[in-house]
Amino acid sequence: MRQDSDSLMVKSKFLQTCDINIEKFKIKPFTMVIFGGSGDLSQRKLLPAIFYLYQENVLPKDFSVVGFGLPALSDQEYRNLVKKSLTKFSQKRFISNKWPSFSKHLFYVSGDFDISQNYQNLCEKVKAVFPSVGGAPRDVIYYMAVPPNFMPLIVQRLKEHKLCKEKFNTKVIIEKPFGRDNKSAVELNKLLRAAFDENQIYRMDHYLGKKTVQDIMFFRFSNSIFEPLWNRRYIDHVQITVAEDLGIEHRGAFYEQSGVVRDIVQNHIMQLIGLVAMEPPVGFSPDFIRDEKVKVFRSLRRMDSEYISRYAVRGQYGEGIINGKKVSGYRKEEKVSPKSNTSTFMAAKLYIDNWRWSGVPFYIRTGKRLKKRVTQIIVQFKQPPLKLFGRTCDVLEPNILVLSVQPQEKISLRFGVRNPNSINQIYPVNMEFNYQSASKAKVSPPYERLIVDCMKGDLTLFVRQDGVEAMWSVVDPIIKHWQDNPASNFPNYSAGQWGPKEADSLIEDDGRKWLNID
Ligand code: BG6
Repeated sequence: MRQDSDSLMVKSKFLQTCDINIEKFKIKPFTMVIFGGSGDLSQRKLLPAIFYLYQENVLPKDFSVVGFGLPALSDQEYRNLVKKSLTKFSQKRFISNKWPSFSKHLFYVSGDFDISQNYQNLCEKVKAVFPSVGGAPRDVIYYMAVPPNFMPLIVQRLKEHKLCKEKFNTKVIIEKPFGRDNKSAVELNKLLRAAFDENQIYRMDHYLGKKTVQDIMFFRFSNSIFEPLWNRRYIDHVQITVAEDLGIEHRGAFYEQSGVVRDIVQNHIMQLIGLVAMEPPVGFSPDFIRDEKVKVFRSLRRMDSEYISRYAVRGQYGEGIINGKKVSGYRKEEKVSPKSNTSTFMAAKLYIDNWRWSGVPFYIRTGKRLKKRVTQIIVQFKQPPLKLFGRTCDVLEPNILVLSVQPQEKISLRFGVRNPNSINQIYPVNMEFNYQSASKAKVSPPYERLIVDCMKGDLTLFVRQDGVEAMWSVVDPIIKHWQDNPASNFPNYSAGQWGPKEADSLIEDDGRKWLNID
């Protein structure tokens, strides 16, 4: 069964009432200062995202981007560099006729982040490229596209030069990882908060910019038919999979320090759990939503060593075949120790100890070099209370709801119907809503969406500090336990599989199985 037509949407008489007043969210003129403006992250993600927004006419007429970095570049040389990276990394084909006008918005300040004078130069540049209108302070966004160890220094210098609050209206975007553990996250926050107010800080987890991730909340709280079932009485368990077929892609040095728990579980997976498990927020404002997610993180059961040994599985990929091609094992990757104990896979059984979810297992799994790229949340409902249809139907295929985040973007519901050619044989059918075929709306990749939200001052899709700390508190014991007890069996899965066999036993021992649904 398939329901994915646009016509149904436009006929709805309720549509108008749900529309948001776009005018209210217009982006004001701004300057974005990118620390690390010529670095890898800027070239791959950030500048293509800004160019995309320019092409789509999302940006105001008055805006400027000031790259700040070590390489000695003039404005013109910076523009040449950006042009090269757009040609290489723009998701949408690079449209050259927009380039000449866009390039005029780009500027550069070169120098060491440590040297005080460079901040003076930066301030002069910002003032020069974006003349003040009627003496009002400029809107300036600082984007930290630098390794985390540079951040304290930059924030300190900005503060010394009164560039955080006094001279401009500022916001600061920082990307995960927010620290390496709870302690360092608290320290980083202390430093940020000494310079900025909480509502100036935009902590970015790009998963929250994915529209299918945002839609988990819309789906849950805009329907009355699922919410009454969304609890321990009707839900058997929840599975969350964030699988990648990619390896670590020249990021060996970073990944050796990070591993799967810091890279994916502490942030992306926790956010998915938060959205699936949260209570309805009091209203649709950033803090109401973030309040509810934090409560979920705080209710996640704390894991001691014994629990971790039983219910958390780690893995590291060896060589194998992905999409028909031989790929090397993790220990042979660039800048990875040949004896590395870093985990590239994790599966676990988690519990949320609150009234709604008490006793409902949340199985999570994530890893690099798995069989395919898929991010999916599966909610499996309990069996009906009575078996009415005879022995052939002793065990019915359970109802499952699949929220597919990527690469498929869809929601599907599986339920049983009687096979029309039989007397009492039940078989499962799917009802499906597919975003791609249902919507003519333009794709808004996560970076673009989050940058625009920051420009508008909307914090809803950014992470609040108490959330960061609560998420670290859940994963810190796992990181510590695995560090204190190195794995003796690494590598324990071949690239191209679904992880180590212990991950299957984890769920199969409970009489359930991982569902790999297309
Ligand atoms: C990043 C991780 O946060 O997310 C990467 O650092 C990972 O290791 C990436 O590959 C996955 O993002 P996506 O959007 O491709 O699922």
